[in-house]
Amino acid sequence: MNGPINPEGAVIYLDNAATSWPKPPCVAEAMTRFMADVGANPGRSGHRLAVQAARVVYGAREAVAELFNAPDPLRVVFGANATEAINLALHGFLRPVDHVITSSMEHNSVMRPLREKARQGVDLTVVPCSSQGLLDPADFEAAIRPTTRLIVLTHASNVTGTLLPVADVGRIAREHDVLLLVDAAQTAGAYPIDVVADAIDLLAFSGHKSLYGPMGTGGLVIGDRVDVARLEPLKRGGSGSRSEREEQPEFLPDLCESGTPNAVGLAGLAAGVRWVATRGVEQIRSHEMALTEELLRGLENITGVTVCGPRDARRQTATVSFTIAGAETSDVGLRLDDDHGIMCRVGLHCAPSAHKTLGTFPGGTVRFGLGAFTTAEEVETAVDAVASLAGRTK
Ligand code: ALA
Repeated sequence: MNGPINPEGAVIYLDNAATSWPKPPCVAEAMTRFMADVGANPGRSGHRLAVQAARVVYGAREAVAELFNAPDPLRVVFGANATEAINLALHGFLRPVDHVITSSMEHNSVMRPLREKARQGVDLTVVPCSSQGLLDPADFEAAIRPTTRLIVLTHASNVTGTLLPVADVGRIAREHDVLLLVDAAQTAGAYPIDVVADAIDLLAFSGHKSLYGPMGTGGLVIGDRVDVARLEPLKRGGSGSRSEREEQPEFLPDLCESGTPNAVGLAGLAAGVRWVATRGVEQIRSHEMALTEELLRGLENITGVTVCGPRDARRQTATVSFTIAGAETSDVGLRLDDDHGIMCRVGLHCAPSAHKTLGTFPGGTVRFGLGAFTTAEEVETAVDAVASLAGRTK
């Protein structure tokens, strides 16, 4: 089976771990409506359009808070993406001599700011994960010291989808009076998250992945154990509040949201989050788990293909990484696109530490990221396409 699997040229989008696509139509509709009918600057002027715009932004805060069971929508801080949210948490809270613990499965959105903090005098411990990306919470507990201020943990690897035990680590963090920051870029909207039950103090989320919002949206949910007086914002400026003062407001979200916000993006994010909530995170998770299982079983049956990670849909998100013996991942990506119409991401996925942990550095892997709109037929076509490419390299 060496010919094109998908000769009609239909696009099969399996890059949902990078950004979800397509989006539910309600997202673009909400953004168009905002541009056409509202358009004003939220929280600045007092006229009716500005008030309407502020309602749209507050609606997004409420929708996000409700999805993650965060008690206070005003402690949802919006920004450009999960990376900005992680940077806000790390630069905002860590001071020289503080100790911070993270895992070896982190994305560079965690690793790069942490390496910079270490350069500035923060003490950093990276706890190694297994070659499947799994983490033993006891290893985190053993790394805690009297100076440990923060634990930073990805909820799921963006390379293998491996789910990390955030709730267990959250309980440990509470016992030791340490804060837990979770990078939920890969799980927000795709896996149930309850910041109270999971003992998450800081939740960084991406708006454009499994929340189905547009790019340029994301944020940080800040729990009530977090001392906001200690939080250094990434930027200072106009907030539409306390305009008589030249100092930054000290309350959330204004402390961290200077400058005109991406209100049109947040209109889209609110629509995406409501779509996820209406469909149900559990429902989306079931759909993606069933397809992941099919994909894993299909890939495992192909001679020459090695699947990375837990290889168990219950222990990972709908992200699957693999290599083909004798083939460069970049060539596989090109062939999948050119010959089979399959869009995926290959290489190191901005996560060199994760690939070192998995033993796939520096060549990386081919990554398929399934989403709520992925179908069983698409998964079948993708498996056939990989079989065809694996056959060609023999
Ligand atoms: N972090 C995104 C990815 O894994 C962009 O592809």
